[in-house]
Amino acid sequence: MKNEKKGFARAHTNIALIKYWGKANNELILPANDSISLTLDKFYSDTYVTFSDDLTENSFFLNQIPMPKKSMKRINHLIDFTKRQYNYSGFAKIQSYNHVPTSAGLASSASGMAALAGAVVSALDSTADLTNISRIARLGSGSASRSIFGGVVHWHRGHDHESSFAEQIVSEKEIDLNMITVVVDRHQKKVKSTHGMAQTVATSPFYSTWVDEANRAIPEMITAVQNNDFTKIGELAEHSAAMMHATTLSANPAFTYFAPETIKAVRLVHQMRSTGIECYFTIDAGPNVKVLCRTQDITRVHNFLAHEFNEQQLVVARPGSGIKFTKN
Ligand code: DP6
Repeated sequence: MKNEKKGFARAHTNIALIKYWGKANNELILPANDSISLTLDKFYSDTYVTFSDDLTENSFFLNQIPMPKKSMKRINHLIDFTKRQYNYSGFAKIQSYNHVPTSAGLASSASGMAALAGAVVSALDSTADLTNISRIARLGSGSASRSIFGGVVHWHRGHDHESSFAEQIVSEKEIDLNMITVVVDRHQKKVKSTHGMAQTVATSPFYSTWVDEANRAIPEMITAVQNNDFTKIGELAEHSAAMMHATTLSANPAFTYFAPETIKAVRLVHQMRSTGIECYFTIDAGPNVKVLCRTQDITRVHNFLAHEFNEQQLVVARPGSGIKFTKN
């Protein structure tokens, strides 16, 4: 009889408030700076893993489409590492489904790799140790380490595999922080974050300043989050995003993730603030703009943005929960 081990996990994606931008160790994905993120309710990945003695290699299907072998490197690394940890030798068939509003174009490696780490561990062992799952998720994609937890999450950069993991600062019920994504472009980004950050680390004369400033902002952001101080959270988040994008313009060759509509959305955020609607922007390694606001202002911010962008370009997300090992 064939010997099978099955696992499942659901993980939500996250948006960084203090960005992770650059690695100190490429193999282990140890970041140069600590980062802090908000887990989101809207976007998540469901991943099913079946380990079997009968299989001769790992396979991965994303929304039922097989992943080409050349794109399996990190997935195989994550699985091999976990198999060694739990002393298991079979291979895995993985089926992963991204649940992202079709209009949003926000498919993210964070929820996918977090769900993969959770599903692999749940197949091989108990899922009690979330810190360990966070470390394993990190091997798939750095930002995935934060998607193990709900609410606002701090990823400690650490100095080796053991010391680089995420932990929750406050739960999704304790924070009044929402995000409206302005979908400027739903096509895949041209410079993937992995390559963009590597180019920045290697060539930007501003890079060491970025690392110092990001790490300096961490305790300030933790205090702001613990106090539910929206103004401080927003100011720090906006500054972190602006500094991160300044490093891409100072790389050699220089590059930017901004599109013309990115600037348009940023200006609208400034306009809203000048008219008394408090909101802040953040931007990842792509042109879409994410607008942070309090629950009381969601409708006003949404309506203001809807003057310039159409309804399908605006996606509202609220704080989301941590990883789950059952579907409900
Ligand atoms: C701009 O986690 O996608 O979104 O570790 O190389 O997979 P890898 O990179 P990834 O980078 C995310 C970069 C960011 C900022 C952030 O999420 O902190």
